[in-house]
Amino acid sequence: MKPNEQTDISIQNVSKIFRTGFGLKKTGVNGLSLEVPRGQVVGLLGPNGSGKSTTIKMIMGFLKPTAGSMTVCGHAVPSKISRSFIGYLPENPRFPKFLSGKSLLQFYGGLLSLRGKALAHRIEFLLDLVNLRWAANEKVQGYSKGMTQRLAIAQALLNEPRLLIFDEPMSGLDPLGRKDIRKLIAEVHRELPEATIFFSSHILEDVEQLCSSVALLKKGRLKTFCKVEELLKVEAQRFDVAVKHDSTTETKSLTGTQELVTFLNEAKNKGYLVMGISSHRTSLEEALFKDETVLSGAPL
Ligand SMILES: Nc1ncnc2c1ncn2[C@@H]1O[C@H](COP(=O)(O)OP(=O)(O)OP(=O)(O)O)[C@@H](O)[C@H]1O
Ligand SMILES: [Mg+2]
Repeated sequence: MKPNEQTDISIQNVSKIFRTGFGLKKTGVNGLSLEVPRGQVVGLLGPNGSGKSTTIKMIMGFLKPTAGSMTVCGHAVPSKISRSFIGYLPENPRFPKFLSGKSLLQFYGGLLSLRGKALAHRIEFLLDLVNLRWAANEKVQGYSKGMTQRLAIAQALLNEPRLLIFDEPMSGLDPLGRKDIRKLIAEVHRELPEATIFFSSHILEDVEQLCSSVALLKKGRLKTFCKVEELLKVEAQRFDVAVKHDSTTETKSLTGTQELVTFLNEAKNKGYLVMGISSHRTSLEEALFKDETVLSGAPL
């Protein structure tokens, strides 16, 4: 897809090499090309150190690519205009602790030149959306990690951005907290269907439930960019079937539903007893993070 109005993030062959002193270099991102279509929820998935934050910081204009180019909503990065389309949630949001949640949103709204009734209405809407109305007048100092994350999402949404970029929105949360933020992102997508959401995570479950497509990074390189269904197909295709015959139990690993059906028919004809069938979701996660590319990646 060529960069156009339907593309909110366009990354063209971007690399980032860090100079780490004594003439040493470290590769953050290596020859990355990616197009994020408008209005979609796209996940940037990869293990620690795979280049997720580096990619996001380059889109934000905080880091300058060593090579390649990027546009945001059709505008070259970095530029004031490209930045103006984005609502950003950093990896570890930090806020002035002495402010209440509400006054913090007022403060950040002021920085975005929002004032008066428009700002007041926006803050009311956002406090409801992120479910923080009950703590709006409490100091941020007393907020839990999950509450801080919710407030940070509200802050990212202040100026009604067309593009939301969240760097590890579920990081540092326990499983229930993660689920909570997943629910919130789904809600943001429902409430603001026009907005494109691009967020990073190293946990497959986070992205498979929320995203239409997933970009998988490994050691700074794009391994796959495909629809979530493509990822889930791989998962569904791996089955372990335990059968019993002549008082011995044997486990057979099968790839694909067709193979499974054929095997089950054979087993039935031979009078084998099927003891159990399982599909392994961990195998997908392991497969994704292995060195080889596991998916061809249907282009969007
Ligand atoms: N400022 C920097 N100086 C030197 N190397 C860096 C710098 N920032 C990132 N890197 C290196 O670039 C690579 C990618 O880092 P990055 O922070 O983008 O990964 P990540 O996918 O966001 O990881 P995590 O899941 O831990 O947040 C790593 O090897 C990291 O050490
Ligand atoms: Mg990171």
